[in-house]
Amino acid sequence: MRISVTLLQYEHGILRQVLDVLAEVVKGDRAAAKRDDVKELLDFLYEFVDRFHHAKEEEFFFPVVREQFPRFKEEIDGIYDDHVKARGMLDDALKALDENDWPAMADACRSLVRHMTAHVELEEDRIFPPVDESLPLEMDERMNEGYQDFLHRFGDDYYQKSEYFANEIQDRLLGPGFFNKGIY
Ligand SMILES: [Fe+2]
Ligand SMILES: [Fe+2]
Repeated sequence: MRISVTLLQYEHGILRQVLDVLAEVVKGDRAAAKRDDVKELLDFLYEFVDRFHHAKEEEFFFPVVREQFPRFKEEIDGIYDDHVKARGMLDDALKALDENDWPAMADACRSLVRHMTAHVELEEDRIFPPVDESLPLEMDERMNEGYQDFLHRFGDDYYQKSEYFANEIQDRLLGPGFFNKGIY
């Protein structure tokens, strides 16, 4: 196990939860009436996905992976492009929301959810397992130190705050326990 990979997986969990909420919200008409909440959700994603998670991957994780695992060169180039695309989709969604263009907002959000789902799967299925298996421990340690410094820029309680927000916005937009409602 490598802490540098585990922390990125943990962040994927938070972003996946918020993307699931967004996917549900744009399915129905429920979001039009909750414009301010949707705006808050998108602002959160902008910061958490673009400014935090993707920036961190690009500053600390992928430069090391590129060097240690040269066979992933093409995938990593694609991953960097994906990060730029995700930012564009978030920009589109926020712009459409600003203009009260609901169909365009919903389209941009659906694209973002699809795009990020595939992106996270690529990282988790192709890149993380070999890194988790064989990245030298001293490199993992150094990367984790970089992660900690990076986290401080967002505040020491950034993880707690982000987890809290993910749960809270889910309850606010979908109602308490939405994803726990089973068939029993
Ligand atoms: Fe990524
Ligand atoms: Fe990622």
